[in-house]
Amino acid sequence: MADDAGMPLTLSTLFSQPQLRQLAALALAAAGLASAAMAAAPFEDSIAQRTLACTACHGAQGRAGPDGYYPRLAGKPAAYLYSQLLNFRDGRRHYGLMTQLVEPLSDAYLMEIARYFSALDLPYPPPAAATASASALQRGRQLVLQGDADRRVPACVSCHGQAMTGVLPAVPGLLGLPRDYLNAQLGAWKTGQRRAHAPDCMKQVVDRLSLDDLNAVAGWLAAQPLPASSQPAAAGPVPAPGAITLSCAGVAKVGP
Ligand code: HEC
Ligand code: HEC
Repeated sequence: MADDAGMPLTLSTLFSQPQLRQLAALALAAAGLASAAMAAAPFEDSIAQRTLACTACHGAQGRAGPDGYYPRLAGKPAAYLYSQLLNFRDGRRHYGLMTQLVEPLSDAYLMEIARYFSALDLPYPPPAAATASASALQRGRQLVLQGDADRRVPACVSCHGQAMTGVLPAVPGLLGLPRDYLNAQLGAWKTGQRRAHAPDCMKQVVDRLSLDDLNAVAGWLAAQPLPASSQPAAAGPVPAPGAITLSCAGVAKVGP
């Protein structure tokens, strides 16, 4: 593996200790992502440059990787991004390379990274063409917009915002996410691989739905275009009287 002189600059600025730099470089090389652009970038101590280690996987400026596996970071609520970084670090989400990257970083630095990506307002690619059957798409749409009273599942929009672009401070949007990513996340909640702090409302949502239903919502959501304003809403919709509600944990303290 490369010696210090050959290390991508961004990793040596993101990490302070030599082994950690080596670890991160190995991780990137393992993912086939060590990029010439990173090594060639002129020195400039900006957060954009220090996070090139992240955008190697997450796409330029955190627009998402090309294959539906590396999620977009740009424009997501800062408190949401921050709490996910803590989730990887503290074992509530599992992806080894992410955990290795964030483990040595301080909370304050993770917050700075979260704020940086959150503030990027970049266009989204058009949605993928829907491939599910008409009845699955109809079921997905119904769950997202109305929920399912029999299964006691609130409409997804009641928490994720009427426009599905998320709600500040910490609820992420549901649009602009590839179907594979959505399915993987919903599946991970079902199996317990992904968790949020208790009460974990998403765990309750997925446990009340069948795998066919989860597949239906993922298929419908992935085929929806972003509205003209893709920003998260300032507040969620007011629940109708008698609507099913679930409580979600507040996010990890946003400090310092
Ligand atoms: C080796 C590739 C790789 C690198 C490098 C990487 N990530 Fe990730 N990241 C992933 C993958 C894959 C996921 C989704 C994992 C899963 O399925 O839960 C992810 C998930 C995330 C999430 C959760 C997104 C969401 O919408 O829930 C955040 C936030 C994140 N990464 C931030 C970062 C930051 C910040 C860095 C740089 C310090 C970074 N990542 C470096 C691969 C990577
Ligand atoms: C009671 C509120 C609530 C309801 C209802 C709800 N969600 Fe969520 N959802 C959340 C919160 C809060 C998070 C962030 C969890 C975390 O911090 O990890 C979340 C996260 C997610 C994520 C992860 C996004 C990412 O970028 O990784 C997906 C996918 C998701 N929800 C899908 C859905 C779908 C589909 C429905 C409807 C079937 C739904 N949610 C209903 C509150 C809700």
